[in-house]
Amino acid sequence: MSDNSTTSGKDVGILSEAEAKAELQRLAAEIAEHDRRYHQEDAPIISDADYDALRRRNKEIEARFPDLVLADGPSANVGAAPASGFGKITHRVPMLSLDNAFSDEDVQDFVGRVRRFLKFDPLQGVLAVTAEPKIDGLSLSLRYENGQLVYAATRGDGTTGENVTANARTIKDIPETLSGNVPEVVELRGEVYMAHKDFQALNARMEANGGKVFANPRNAAAGSLRQLKSEITASRPLRFFAYAWGEMSAMPAGTQFDMVEQMRAWGFQINPLMKRCETVEELLGVYHGIEESRAQLDYDIDGVVYKVDRLDLQERLGFVSRSPRWAIAHKFPAEQAFTVLNDIEIQVGRTGALTPVAKLEPITVGGVVVSNATLHNEDYIKGIGQDGEPIREGKDLRIGDTVKIQRAGDVIPQIVDIDLDKRSEGAQPFEFPTVCPACGSHAVREENEKTGRVDAVRRCTGGLICPAQATEKLKHFVSRNAFDIEGFGDKQVDAFYQDGMVMAPADIFTLEERDKRSLTKLRNREGWGAVSARNLFEAINARRDIDLHRFIFALGIRHVGEGNAKLLARAYGSWAAFYQAMQAAHDPAGEAFAELNDIDGIGHIVADALVEFFAEQHNRAQLDALLAEVSPKDPEKIDASGSPVAGKTVVFTGSLERMTRDEAKAMAERFGAKTSGSVSKKTDLVVAGPGAGSKLKKAQELDIEVISEDDWFELVGA
Ligand code: IVH
Repeated sequence: MSDNSTTSGKDVGILSEAEAKAELQRLAAEIAEHDRRYHQEDAPIISDADYDALRRRNKEIEARFPDLVLADGPSANVGAAPASGFGKITHRVPMLSLDNAFSDEDVQDFVGRVRRFLKFDPLQGVLAVTAEPKIDGLSLSLRYENGQLVYAATRGDGTTGENVTANARTIKDIPETLSGNVPEVVELRGEVYMAHKDFQALNARMEANGGKVFANPRNAAAGSLRQLKSEITASRPLRFFAYAWGEMSAMPAGTQFDMVEQMRAWGFQINPLMKRCETVEELLGVYHGIEESRAQLDYDIDGVVYKVDRLDLQERLGFVSRSPRWAIAHKFPAEQAFTVLNDIEIQVGRTGALTPVAKLEPITVGGVVVSNATLHNEDYIKGIGQDGEPIREGKDLRIGDTVKIQRAGDVIPQIVDIDLDKRSEGAQPFEFPTVCPACGSHAVREENEKTGRVDAVRRCTGGLICPAQATEKLKHFVSRNAFDIEGFGDKQVDAFYQDGMVMAPADIFTLEERDKRSLTKLRNREGWGAVSARNLFEAINARRDIDLHRFIFALGIRHVGEGNAKLLARAYGSWAAFYQAMQAAHDPAGEAFAELNDIDGIGHIVADALVEFFAEQHNRAQLDALLAEVSPKDPEKIDASGSPVAGKTVVFTGSLERMTRDEAKAMAERFGAKTSGSVSKKTDLVVAGPGAGSKLKKAQELDIEVISEDDWFELVGA
C-alpha cells in the first residue's frame, strides 16, 4: 500500500509554482484523510514513517512557497475534528502536537534554535532539557477542581475534544481525587495506552468471542477509550502516564522535571525513564539508550521527547503554529532487518486479482516474527511503483535474494531494498504467470479505456470456472458482514466446493433438500454428526430473510464494500428497484445511470463496477437462482407520506449529541427527506447542534427554519 509513491514527487527545489500549489492541495487532502482514519476510526492505513514523510514534504513545499500555504492546510490542523457520539469539550488551553526530529543533527539544530531564540549565552549556565519516551497511545486531558476529577477529554482537533469522563474514571491509573497540596484548578495531560501483555490477552479474548481483533495496542487503547458504554472501557486494561498540563490556577514547580515529580505526588504514574540532561550529547545518549531498551518495554513508544526544563524559558519560547518551540519529538527510524526471499507465491482473490506474496525466511523485526510480505503486483516485483516511478532504485526482486524488510508502526512489512552483492549468479528475474495458477485461464492486465493506462493488477479471466475465485466469492458471501451463516466458514466452503456440493451461493440454500435425497448424508461425513448437520441447516434457513444492504454486499461486486452497499440499499429502498435500476444503468446515456452516479458517496468507479457486474449474463443467472431461495428485506421504511419532512431537504450542522452524522442522514431518508451538506435556497430545514457556524448563519440570512436536535426528534416523532 505505502511504497512511498505518495511522497516521491519531484525534488521540492525544482517545483514550479503551479506544481507546488497543486501538490499542497493534494497533500492537504491526503493528510486530512489519514488524520481522520487515525483519530476518528483508529484505523490508519499508512505507517507513521510514511505519514511523517507526507507532512515533511508539505512543510518543505510551504517553506519554499510561503504565499501558497493553505489557511486550512495541514500546518493549521493538529488532528481530525472529534467524532460524534460523545459530548464535546473545548480545551481551555489547546492541546497541541510536537515537531519531529529524525536525526542527531535535527536535535543539535533544535538546541541551537532554542539557544539563539533565548539569546542564551553559555556563560549564563547550562540549558537543561528533559528527555522521556514518546508513548504511542492517545493523549487525554483531565480537569481537576479542588482536587476532584471533573472531566476527561480527548485531544480531538486540538481545540475541541470528546468528553470521555465516564470512561476515564474506569482507568485505575487515573485518580478520582488528587493527594496532597493541590491548586484549585489542575488540568493534567498524558497518554492513555495499553501494555503489550494486556493487548495480547484482550485480542485473544475478542477472538475467542468471535469479535474482531485490534491491529496494535494504540488502536486497542483508542477503541477502548472511545466506547459509548463505560462498562466496556472498564473491562479493557487501559493505563495512563502523566507528562504535561493545561490550565493551572497555580504552578507548584518551576521546571518540567519538578512538575512531573509533583504529578507523581498527586497520585499519577510517571514514566521512569525520564531524565534531565545538560548537553546535546547527553540527550542523544538517553535517546539511544531508550532505543536499545525499546524491545524490552511492555508498551509501545515511537521516539523520545525533549523539553526545555525551565518553565520560564518555555514561556518565552512559546509556540509556532501547532507545536511548542520548547519541545521536539525525536522519532525512531522504522525497524529494518535483512532476510532471504525464499519464494513468491501467487494468490488469486475473489475478483480474480493475482496477488504475489513474498515468502521470507522468518526473521524478527522489532520484536515481531515476519515470514510474509506483500508484493502488491508484478510491477512492484520489477521495481516499478504506482506512478511508473522506480522503487528500491528500480532493483527487481529475484527468488533467493537477500532483502531488507521494514516494519514501520503497525503496517504490513515491506521489502525496501535488495542486497545485490549477495545475489547468486544464476538468479533469474521473476516471471509473473500469465495464466491463473488455480484454473489455468489466461490472466491479463486490462487497459483502462478512459486513461489508456494498463492496470497494474493481472486478473484471471476464468470467472466462475476458476475454483480460487469461486471459493473466495463463497467465503465472502458467508462472511460475518454478509450472510453471516454460523458454522459455515472458510473450511466448510473449501470442503463443500471440493466435493461439488456448493459451487455457487444458491447451492447453500438447496443443500438441505439435496441432503434429504442424497445417499451420502452430511451427518455421516467425517467431522459431522446429526446435531451439527441439523444446526448448519438451521443456521442457513435463518438467513433466508436478509437485510438488503447485506445482500448487496454479499454479492462481492468490485468496489462495493459495506459502506457502499448501505448507500445503495438506502437510495433504492428495495431489491426490485435496485435490480431493475442496475440493469437499466447499462445505458450510459440513460436516466438510471445518471441517477446511480448522483447518489451521494457513489463515484464513477463504483458505478461502472455495478453496471459491469449486472451486465454479465452468468451473474444474473446466479442471482436469479439465489433469489428463488432468499428474500432481501427492504431497509426499514416508515410511511413517509404522513411524515412532516417528506420531500424536504434537510441540512444537519454543528455537533449532534444523540446520533452520528450517518445516523442522522439515514433517519432523514427514512422519513422521506433528502439531506444535503450545504445550505442554499433549496434547503427547507436546518438542524443545528452546538458549535454550528457558517451554515447556521447562512440559514438565518436566507430565512430558513432552524431547529435543535431535540426539536428534530420531536418533529419526526422518533
Ligand atoms: S508532550 C505541547 N510528552 O505526542 C505538546 N507528548 O505529537 C505536549 N506524546 O499529542 C505533548 N508521549 O499524544 C508529550 N512524553 C510525551 C509524550 C507525548 C506521547 C504524544 C501526545 C501528543 C503527541 C505530540
